[in-house]
Amino acid sequence: MASVTLTAINKSFEKVQVVRDFNLAVEDGELVVLVGPSGCGKSTTLRMVAGLEGISSGELRIGDRVVNDLTPRDRDIAMVFQSYALYPHMTVYENMAFGLRIRKMPQAEIAQRVGEAAALLGLSDLLERRPKALSGGQRQRVAMGRAVVREPAVFLFDEPLSNLDAKLRVQMRLEVARLHKRLGATILYVTHDQVEAMTLADRIAVMHAGILQQCDSPNEIYSRPVNTFVATFIGSPSMNLFPVTARTQDAGVTGTTDLLLEGVGVHMPLGKDADSVAALATSAEWTLGVRPQDLEVVSEADAQLHLRVDVLEPLGAETFVYGTLEGGPGVVSPARDASTEERLASPCIVRLPPEQHVAPGQLLPLRIIAGRAHVFDRVGDRIASLDT
Ligand SMILES: Nc1ncnc2c1ncn2[C@@H]1O[C@H](COP(=O)(O)OP(=O)(O)OP(=O)(O)O)[C@@H](O)[C@H]1O
Ligand SMILES: [Mg+2]
Repeated sequence: MASVTLTAINKSFEKVQVVRDFNLAVEDGELVVLVGPSGCGKSTTLRMVAGLEGISSGELRIGDRVVNDLTPRDRDIAMVFQSYALYPHMTVYENMAFGLRIRKMPQAEIAQRVGEAAALLGLSDLLERRPKALSGGQRQRVAMGRAVVREPAVFLFDEPLSNLDAKLRVQMRLEVARLHKRLGATILYVTHDQVEAMTLADRIAVMHAGILQQCDSPNEIYSRPVNTFVATFIGSPSMNLFPVTARTQDAGVTGTTDLLLEGVGVHMPLGKDADSVAALATSAEWTLGVRPQDLEVVSEADAQLHLRVDVLEPLGAETFVYGTLEGGPGVVSPARDASTEERLASPCIVRLPPEQHVAPGQLLPLRIIAGRAHVFDRVGDRIASLDT
């Protein structure tokens, strides 16, 4: 196994730049999941690592070697794609052995490697079958087996499970996790599936428009997103974003300074340490971010926000409530300089336990769970988490 280091990698097709100044160091044995919207450059990045696509500028290392100019064959990498493209006229065994035969590996060693990979992937009883006699999940396992027998320094996966139905995906996801653990493999893995990303990754790398936004542990990405793009891309349904205006206010008795966030029906005193409050208040126009599950229904006396309920989505284990924030009792008027659209509606989604009774039209008193409010500047960069 080996590390993979991308340093200041750029990629252009003709005049169009699709990957910009990309820096990422995948450690030996680490599984990094690459996510981002369609067309953001994930596959292109993977293909550059594999050597299937040239690198416009920058340096790519596998282990200690600079591999920019090496052919795919000499990079010691195996790639698994969404379309597994097995040879239909060959058995499972022959499909898995093919790449090794081409490399003129002795028969005995081929048999041993295929045998081990088959055992690892639960394919031992299927070695004599042809692909058309296999299920989708079994075929995808053969495609993985073909990569495993090569014993490459690095595995590249490009949406390997997206052709499978939901149940099989869950099963195969566990299989990939097991494979990673058993082989101690270095893996760069692209997916559109958030659960796959959160559960498989040692670190998640979030890309947007060819630019790496953040690369951190799943927990860090989720709880401390660096900007509103990452904040709304990770997590489903997306984090709510509210335009707010900040003011400081003397808290009186205690001698501390409170922070007031005014927006569309948002008004909350945040009596915390004076330094950070002052630093925050210097930039008065913010975006407040709160995930749907970080809002809870409280008594009117404890309310920070009020949601006018529009639509309910009962999913059994949870209910998603869609509505707009409104000024209610104890809530000051919208910020003076909020734009007209901001005044009109601040759409909001709240996740509630199924036993919570709500009805369309109702005004729900809400509170943000302590420590779960994120503050971004109006460009979208993270400023802080607020302990509300
Ligand atoms: N050979 C090519 N020539 C010109 N443009 C290309 C080429 N290959 C990819 N692109 C463009 O580069 C951008 C990034 O493509 P890429 O396939 O890396 O996206 P992706 O993140 O993998 O998307 P998806 O999630 O849809 O697979 C896209 O705008 C795509 O149209
Ligand atoms: Mg792609």
